[in-house]
Amino acid sequence: MKVTVIGAGYVGLVTGVCLADFGHSVDVIDIDSSRIERLKEGKSPIFEPGIERLITHNLASGRLSFSMDLESAARAASVVFIAVSTPSSDTGEADLRYLFTAVDQMAAILAQHPSETPTILVVKSTVPVGTCTAVRTRLLSAGIGEDRCVVVSNPEFLREGNAIGDCLNPERVVIGSGSAVGFERIKSLYHPYVAREIPFVEVALEAAEHIKYASNAFLAVKISFVNELALLCEKTNTDVLEVARGMGLDGRIGPSFLMPGPGFGGSCFPKDIRALEAVGQKNGVELKLLGAVDSVNKRQKHHVVTQVISRLAGIVSPVVAVLGLAFKANTDDMRDAPALDILPLLIANGAVIQAYDLVAADNARPLLGDQVRYCSSAMAAAAGADVLLILTEWNEFYDIDLMALKAQMRSPTIVDARRVIDPQSAIRAGFSYYGIGRA
Ligand code: NAD
Ligand code: UGA
Repeated sequence: MKVTVIGAGYVGLVTGVCLADFGHSVDVIDIDSSRIERLKEGKSPIFEPGIERLITHNLASGRLSFSMDLESAARAASVVFIAVSTPSSDTGEADLRYLFTAVDQMAAILAQHPSETPTILVVKSTVPVGTCTAVRTRLLSAGIGEDRCVVVSNPEFLREGNAIGDCLNPERVVIGSGSAVGFERIKSLYHPYVAREIPFVEVALEAAEHIKYASNAFLAVKISFVNELALLCEKTNTDVLEVARGMGLDGRIGPSFLMPGPGFGGSCFPKDIRALEAVGQKNGVELKLLGAVDSVNKRQKHHVVTQVISRLAGIVSPVVAVLGLAFKANTDDMRDAPALDILPLLIANGAVIQAYDLVAADNARPLLGDQVRYCSSAMAAAAGADVLLILTEWNEFYDIDLMALKAQMRSPTIVDARRVIDPQSAIRAGFSYYGIGRA
């Protein structure tokens, strides 16, 4: 099948690359020329394990191409995905300007190049309920009826850092459409999922849009719940990891997303919670739980700051070594990373920051600026430090050489906001150790 993907970001690029791997002929389009040039050379603009191999393999096969020319790509495509960003506006609502620009571009192309069978326009971006219907109305007012273009909602559930695996092997595929043509075309596009009996959830457009926000919101609820519980455990001589394990073995609760941390970040949970709250407001329903999730998440970052500051009391010109800047491991994405809130607060309290991240420093620099010293290793970051703060759970931090680390530091103190260090090992090595959610 001939497919066009609009947007070569995390979702568009991964979708395009995986569809090419399924055997389709895929053009991925972006308005960012430097991104497209990089991609044409087989280089990924994002850090995502496994993606470059798939890009180069599918470029070489001739099934995958990158360009800025939407018209040439989309006029012959039978399926067009829209995977542009839908960031937060000032009010918290999803800002749909990139999406509607892409829709208007497609309306103009469809008007110029009529085809015998309807083009399937798939909204993959995360959009509030009612958006796909608004897209249909927009197409209709441009003279493009259902006989020419069918709108389908197919939200994406991939996780950064695991995006290729999630895209090749999703737990479910949600398809919202009012039309059998839409369902059938998407099903044949996703033939490997059908062969592997991955469940398809065929629902109305509105339900598909809601499923995406509700899923992200529910996962955020779990994280804020365990983070709040972590604070209580610290006061009651309990380890929240033991509590989470005991809870998670109950099949109704499940073990995942019960890991305490410095608060959730990333390009989606924070913005999607705000967007869903805004949908609630618009419809006269106050989504109280989401407000609480957001405020627990903010408090969590302040809690981490308090833990560090309390350990710097009395130290002149204190130095904090920060391990990890990205919002989670295996990504270089800094969007809404807890480090962006935590580090400026530490600096405002007089700390000098020496940070190390395996891949995110280049993306962090424009956001945090020169107020942070960027280091090339964990040991370099620890040199002369009074507190070592762990913010991202990169694999290499789990088995860090504690004796070597101690030798680097001015005072051996660890604030572990990710619970990556074994407390007993740290204590044996002579560290004063604090792990989030542990007495
Ligand atoms: P992104 O910012 O990484 O990428 C968006 C890309 O679209 C950019 O490269 C931008 O230049 C391009 N673009 C914007 N307008 C365009 C146009 N008219 N034509 C061509 N290209 C255009 O965004 P993302 O993280 O991939 O997210 C995209 C959507 O998917 C969002 O709605 C997001 O909420 C959702 N989503 C993201 C993830 C994730 O892990 N990042 C997961 C699931 C869903
Ligand atoms: C999340 C969802 O997991 C995806 O299903 C969804 O497609 C995506 O958002 C999206 O809509 O963009 P992602 O943001 O890549 O994916 O990362 P997650 O693994 O969900 O982590 C999000 C944040 O929660 C991170 O800051 C992470 O450290 C934190 N987290 C996660 C915890 O603090 N504890 C946990 O137990 C799990």
